[in-house]
Amino acid sequence: MAEPKSGELMEKIVSLCKERGFIFQSSEIYGGLNGFWDYGPLGTDLKRNVKEAWWRTMTRLRDDVVGLDATIIMHPRIWQASGHVDTFTDPMVDCKTCKARFRADQMDEIPCPRKPSKMANACDGEKTEARPFNLMFDTIVGPIRSEENRTYLRPETAQAIFAQFKNLLATSRQKVPFGVAQVGKAFRNEVTPRNFTFRSREFEQMELEFFIKPDEAIEAISGTVAKPTAPGHPGEPQPNWGWQIWHQYWVEERVRFYEGIGLPRSSLVEYWQKPEELAHYARACVDILYKFPFSKRDEKGELMGEELEGIAARSDFDLSQHQRFAGKPMTVFDEELRAAWPKLDEGKKAELNKRYFETRQKYLLKVGESPEKAEKQAREEAEALSKGYYVPHVIEPSAGADRLALALICSAYCEDQAPDDKGNLESRVVMKFHPRVAPIKLAVFPLLKNKPELVTKAKEVRDLLRPHLTVFYDEAGAIGRRYRRQDEAGTPFGVTIDFDTLGEKGPELKDTVTLRDRDSMKQERVKIDQLVSLLMAKIQ
Ligand code: GAP
Repeated sequence: MAEPKSGELMEKIVSLCKERGFIFQSSEIYGGLNGFWDYGPLGTDLKRNVKEAWWRTMTRLRDDVVGLDATIIMHPRIWQASGHVDTFTDPMVDCKTCKARFRADQMDEIPCPRKPSKMANACDGEKTEARPFNLMFDTIVGPIRSEENRTYLRPETAQAIFAQFKNLLATSRQKVPFGVAQVGKAFRNEVTPRNFTFRSREFEQMELEFFIKPDEAIEAISGTVAKPTAPGHPGEPQPNWGWQIWHQYWVEERVRFYEGIGLPRSSLVEYWQKPEELAHYARACVDILYKFPFSKRDEKGELMGEELEGIAARSDFDLSQHQRFAGKPMTVFDEELRAAWPKLDEGKKAELNKRYFETRQKYLLKVGESPEKAEKQAREEAEALSKGYYVPHVIEPSAGADRLALALICSAYCEDQAPDDKGNLESRVVMKFHPRVAPIKLAVFPLLKNKPELVTKAKEVRDLLRPHLTVFYDEAGAIGRRYRRQDEAGTPFGVTIDFDTLGEKGPELKDTVTLRDRDSMKQERVKIDQLVSLLMAKIQ
């Protein structure tokens, strides 16, 4: 079938999401609330599966990552330390003519609400100068509406991990390198939410803070610091890995994760932020982009992609900031470093001490400490390094659950032809979700609903499978219609209970069912008692 154009495709996807119960506009009966979305029955399971796949990969299948589930509202000093109060802004422009507000850097992409429709930068409305607009939602904690009770809905989940670092270290029985994972809501008062759920005001993040030793500590312990030697996955983590190879490792791990849930590598782009795009404390950041239908195109007409996830090497900035603001040490004691240091020759000690001193001094000056204080503190910190103490550095893979759910929906959407009950070809919309994330894994159908023996057997099969996977039982309508409904829901497998199952055509087919594959539409005969193991192998 001819491929629909990007705009049309997105319209079809948005309407399918509503009609099939993936995603609804929040507060729709009151006209909706811009930037807020609700997940319907299928969307809820899809997003839950996305988060579970992330959690399983990032924590359960690893020894070196633990979890955290922190509050959305936290002490306001956290957001001063992180820099969000001062710098978490987008440039905003007001149109005095039509009263609309635009992000200054998106004026060529956002239409002005006045007719005839033009992009904001092409309309002749009188615009204000761009000014910073803080994206945090604020709120008052407690019954007294005063400034000192003002705090914020978290704009990212990451900061709680930094703020709880010492408790996490003390209780998790982990040593650096190790990570802390968190999944949860984040809120940003985006100036112009758009592209369906892509840029929302309430969304969920899946963030890992992976703490590593500073390179100076690695060098003291291992003699050298391993750096990337070739593109691709660097293999199993090694004790001598420096930050660059850890960063590469996490980029590759994350791309593998996306491939493993059905986003082909060809649909993803690894975008290395340029030095001028990096935050001042970041050493590197790779954005993993997905080629959404609404992405911009390059000069060759190829989709350029939009951000699904950023993987940043953030140095020791975050923990250092909380150390300064809370006045509590965020250092770890590293026994290996303490033991290794005295064995270094004097030249190496001086070299590592100087390097560590200089980076710490640079950070302290950058965040506004006086030269005297920065010098004194950096000297103390370099001295502490030689005794085994340092503030860990961090690699942060930070992904959005809603963006990933949307990418999976876009990637799954497919129009093709399938035979109806009479064998004639008809168009079908099929959501080709990977079985790992598909909202419903299996549909169970009795061939006819007016044959009690078939219905009873089908319900038995449903009850047998239900504890293991998400099953949808459907007896209404012709079997072809029922398949079509499940194709649109993205259910990868369907089981039909027919007269052969009851043994009416001989004992050899008794207690077997047809198992239909959504994508190939092929059917095979399978014994009921083999269904659990066969399906679980395909789904996990
Ligand atoms: N702690 C780092 C951090 O928050 P970010 O790039 O601002 O980094 C990480 O956000 C991820 O969160 C993004 O890659 C995206 O998937 C998701 N995200 C950010 N803003 C979003 C929004 N307004 N709507 C939906 N998802 C968003």
